[in-house]
Amino acid sequence: MPVKKEIKKITTHTLQMMKENGEKISMITAYDFSFARLFDAAGIDVILVGDSASNVMAGHETTLPITLDQMIYHASSVIRGTHRCLVVVDLPFGSYQSNSKEALVSTFRIMKETGAHAVKLEGGEEVLESVKRIIAAGVPVMGHLGLTPQSIYKFGTYTVRAKEEAEADKLKRDAKLLEEAGCFGIVLEKIPATLAKEVTNSVRIPVIGIGAGKHCDGQVLVMHDMLGINTEFKPRFLRQYLKLHEQITKAVQSYIKDVKSKNFPSEQEQY
Ligand code: KIV
Repeated sequence: MPVKKEIKKITTHTLQMMKENGEKISMITAYDFSFARLFDAAGIDVILVGDSASNVMAGHETTLPITLDQMIYHASSVIRGTHRCLVVVDLPFGSYQSNSKEALVSTFRIMKETGAHAVKLEGGEEVLESVKRIIAAGVPVMGHLGLTPQSIYKFGTYTVRAKEEAEADKLKRDAKLLEEAGCFGIVLEKIPATLAKEVTNSVRIPVIGIGAGKHCDGQVLVMHDMLGINTEFKPRFLRQYLKLHEQITKAVQSYIKDVKSKNFPSEQEQY
C-alpha cells in the first residue's frame, strides 16, 4: 500500500514555538499559484498575500487601489499552490477601517473564499476593536506597525518611521495592545533596529521585520524585490538574491531573435 507522506504544516502555534526556541521565521510575499508553489516547496515558513500586489502585480503607485475581490483572487491562487506554509492575507485599504463589523465581514469573505489561514491589518489602537472581533470569531490576526503603506498620504513619504520619541512610544504601546488583543504576530516595517529589538523583546508573540533590523524573530521581503524583478526599488534593507530582471530580459530577447531569424521552432520542436 502506498504510504502517504505526512506534511508538517506550519501553524501560528509553530511560529510561537519558533520564537520560544530562537529559530528565525522566514516569510515572503506571493500573489499567484506558480510562485507560491515554488516558495512552499523551498521550505518558506509563511507566505504573505500582501496588498503590495497593488504595486507589483497591478502597477499602482500605492497599495490603496487594490480591492477585496482582487485580494481574494490572489489569495485563492496562492492557496492552491501551498501545502505546508502558513498563508496570511492582507485586508486591503477600505475593507476594515470603517468599523469592526466591516472588518469582520471582509475577513469572513477572505477565509471562506480563499482557504487562507490568517489575516493581517495595519495599525494599533485605531483598529483594536476590529482585531478583537476578528480573533473572537476564530481567525488569527497579524498586526502591522511602523511604516504602514495604507496611510502613505498621512505620512507623506516612505522614509523610516518612529525615529522620534513620541512615535516610538506609541508604537511600543500599540505592540503591547495587539499582543493583549490576541494577535499571533506583528510585522514591523522600516523602523530603527534598536526600537524593533526593544519591541521584539517586550512581547511574547513573534515579530517579523522588514527594514527593522536583525533582532526581529523573522524577516519578510516582497518577492519581486528580493528576486530582482524590480530594478527601481533599492532601499538599504533589501537584499537581492537574484537579478531576474536581467535574466528575463536576456531570455526574452533570445526568444525574439530566434523567432525573427526562423531559428525557432526547429524540426525537433514541431509535430
Ligand atoms: O503588502 C506587503 O507586501 C506587506 C509587507 C511589506 C510586509 O505588507
